[in-house]
This record gives sequence, structure tokens and C-alpha cells, in this order.
Amino acid sequence: MAKMWAGRFKKDVDNKVNDFNSSISFDSVMYKVDILGSIAHSKMLAKQGIINEEESNLIVDELNNILNDIENGNLSFDYEAEDIHMFIEKELTTRIGDVGKKVHTARSRNDQVALDIRMYLKENIQELIYLLKNLCNVLCNISQDNLHTVMPGYTHLQRAQPITFAHHIMAYAQMFIRDIDRLKDCYKRTNVMPLGSGALATTTHNIDREFVCQLLNFQEITKNSLDSVSDRDFCIELANDIAMIMMHLSRFSEEIIMWCSWEFKFIELDDAYSTGSSIMPQKKNPDIAELVRGKAGRTIGNLNTILCMMKGLPLAYNKDMQEDKEAIFDSVNTVKVCLETFTAMIENMTVLKENMKIAANKGFINATDCADYLVKKGIPFRDAYKITGELVLYCIENNKTLEKLSLQEYKSYCQLFEQDIFNDIDLLNCVTKRNISGGPSPEQVQIQINDIKKQIL
Ligand code: ARG
Repeated sequence: MAKMWAGRFKKDVDNKVNDFNSSISFDSVMYKVDILGSIAHSKMLAKQGIINEEESNLIVDELNNILNDIENGNLSFDYEAEDIHMFIEKELTTRIGDVGKKVHTARSRNDQVALDIRMYLKENIQELIYLLKNLCNVLCNISQDNLHTVMPGYTHLQRAQPITFAHHIMAYAQMFIRDIDRLKDCYKRTNVMPLGSGALATTTHNIDREFVCQLLNFQEITKNSLDSVSDRDFCIELANDIAMIMMHLSRFSEEIIMWCSWEFKFIELDDAYSTGSSIMPQKKNPDIAELVRGKAGRTIGNLNTILCMMKGLPLAYNKDMQEDKEAIFDSVNTVKVCLETFTAMIENMTVLKENMKIAANKGFINATDCADYLVKKGIPFRDAYKITGELVLYCIENNKTLEKLSLQEYKSYCQLFEQDIFNDIDLLNCVTKRNISGGPSPEQVQIQINDIKKQIL
């Protein structure tokens, strides 16, 4: 097939080289933004008198036709084409003849591709923010139903202190709120319009970059043409933000997997979000959560791919940069499907409150509260800590819990214990009394929920 750049060459490109060089198999997803970019560019060319009104109208109308034809399935991509930009320009020229050849006036694929990726990622960042808000909303609802669901809080995966399921769930909501914030920040730097930078040094035509910027709804134009065509920082930032989201989803998945094991049984996943085993009839596996955890790996890999690809490149555009797309598109697609599936999965899970309570009743998670009881009676914390430690050892050796000890037994360790110790080590009381900003008391968690609900409006 004759290339758009055929003039300088005596031979056709080798077929294998053509395949190796081609990006249309993965950059065709940018067909719409590519067309919208070309429409804005053509309108600007006419406004500036670089092409005439009639030519511009012809180009714009046909570009719209091409867009419709692709969307209606009447035009399929030619995978012989070098990339989506060449494909659309060639299609335009096939359809309207010589006028089509004018669309690329005062433009290079280098600024064109930079524009397209930015437009494509802007849409996707908005979508990711929407999906994250949706997830946060589900987390708020789960928490609202579990303000008083006592469970053990863990450190080192050892039962540590009593918290509520709501508090645990809202910890994840905080992570996803930070993720939204990071995406909004990334959006700012993606929302800068590079077209008009040309191959590297703009153009001698009297173009109006601000006009294109307005037409395409960008915040501002890029400030240096070399930087504009060689910058992929926004891809790296987004790849990082996505890797972070996936890392958060992966940690959450790990807990979901543990919680639905027989060892924990804190939750039960809906059948629609679990799978069976091909050999073991009793099995119900948390495959969705495991896949999310697994897929986090590839998004971290994608971040590395782009960073490594960029780190040695001289200014300005180098073909290496074509490698940005598969990585960032894969990250975007992966996080989108993970967010959607994960959100539906937890929205439909059953919280086994009773089992959490049973677990909370074992493991002496109110030992700190017992020590604090003595501190409030005037005993220095270190001494109170030691007395409580001895009490715990006594319980272990006699197969008892702090709740089950008699006041007599308490008093044999310290005379200051009175009947009200049982009130102070009651698990729900232990949680309710941690009524400190950011704490697990139902009142404080309610504040968190209200705050996050407001942020995701
Ligand atoms: N397909 C290329 C890319 O995705 C287009 C950019 C321009 N190519 C070029 N040889 N100057 O990066």
C-alpha cells in the first residue's frame, strides 16, 4: 500500500516492518478524538484564511460522516494503515479528493498524537472519577449499616483492639477519596492543548492555537513546542494514579479473600460474584477479588513500561513514544473493569456481624481498655500495662476471657478494680468511648460518612 509519506522513498516498506511499525491495532480506539481534533484544526485553518471556508466545510462534513460510519459499523479500520491518524486522513482524501490533503496543513502527527492522547485520557479520567465516587458511595452505605458492628481491628494480622466494620470500610473510602483527588490533579495537567506545536518547532502558517483550545474545551495551551510533542508526563501520572487505585483495590481484595475463608467467615459473597471448583463440590471461591489483586500487578508494570520507555529519550518526539499507548490504555481498561466489578461484588456481599462479634470476643482485644481503666484510677500506664498482661496470662492459662473473670480474680491482681471494670471492657463500650476525631465510635464514623458523602456529590 502506498504510504502518505511516499515521495521521499523509492521502495515500499517491507511487510514485516509495516506490521512492526504500525500502531493502528491499538490506537484505533482514539478514532473519535482524532476526528474531533481534525475538525477543530480545519475550522481554525479556515478562520485564519489558510484554507477557505468551503474547503473547511467539506472537510468537516466528511470527517463527521467518517465518524458516523465508524460508529455505525459501516467503516472498519484498515490494519495495513500505519496508525489511526493516517487511516482517517487517507479515508478523507479517498472520499473528497484533493481537499482532503489540506487537513494536515500546519500540523504534524507528533502534535496530533499528543492532542489525541490528552483528549482520550481526559474522558477516561472523568469516567474513573465517576466510578470511584460510585464505589465510595457503596462504602458509605455499607458503613451506615454497620456503625455498631464490632469486629477485631488487627495489627500484624493479630487481633489488636476493637473497632467496627464501618470504621474498617471507611478506611478504604479515605484511600479512594485520595485517589479521586490525585486524578483531579492529573486532569489539570492533561487538560493542556498541544496542537500547533507541529513536528517540534510550530509552523510558519499564521495559526490560532487559542481558538483550537477553546473549540476542544481545553483549559490552556502548552507553552513550549518541543516539550509539547515530547511530553508524556500526564500518561505517567495517570499510570501512577491507576497503579495506586489498583494497589488499594488489591489490599481490599486480600481482606475480602480472608474474610470469606472459613477461618474468618466475616462476610459471604453473593453467588453471582463467586465461582465453584471443577473438582471440589464444596468450594465457593472469591475469584473476582483474586483477579483484581492479580491485575494490580500489570498496572504497576504499565507504569514501569512508560517510565523506562521515556527515561532515555532526547527531545523531541521519538518513535519509542508509540509504546506509551498499549501501557496506558491497558491500565485504563483494567482499572475500569476492576472498579465496576469490585463495586458490584461488595455491594452484594452479606456481612456476618455475629461472626465478627465472636472473633472480637476472643483475643483479649479489650486489654488496652483494661489497662486504661487502671490508669484512670491513678496507676501509671506502664504498671497498669503489666498488671493487665498478668491478667491476660492468667486467662490464657485458665481458658478464660477478661469478661469472664470474677471481681475477686481482678482484685487479686489489683485492689483498685471495682464492678465498673466490666462496663469498661464491654466491646461496644470500648468502641463507643473511642470518640476521638478519626476514631471508631459510631458518632465519629458517622462524621466520616457524612463528610465523604458531601465530597462525592
Ligand atoms: N503512531 C505514532 C504514535 O503513536 C504517531 C506519531 C508520529 N509518528 C512519527 N513517526 N513521527 O506515537
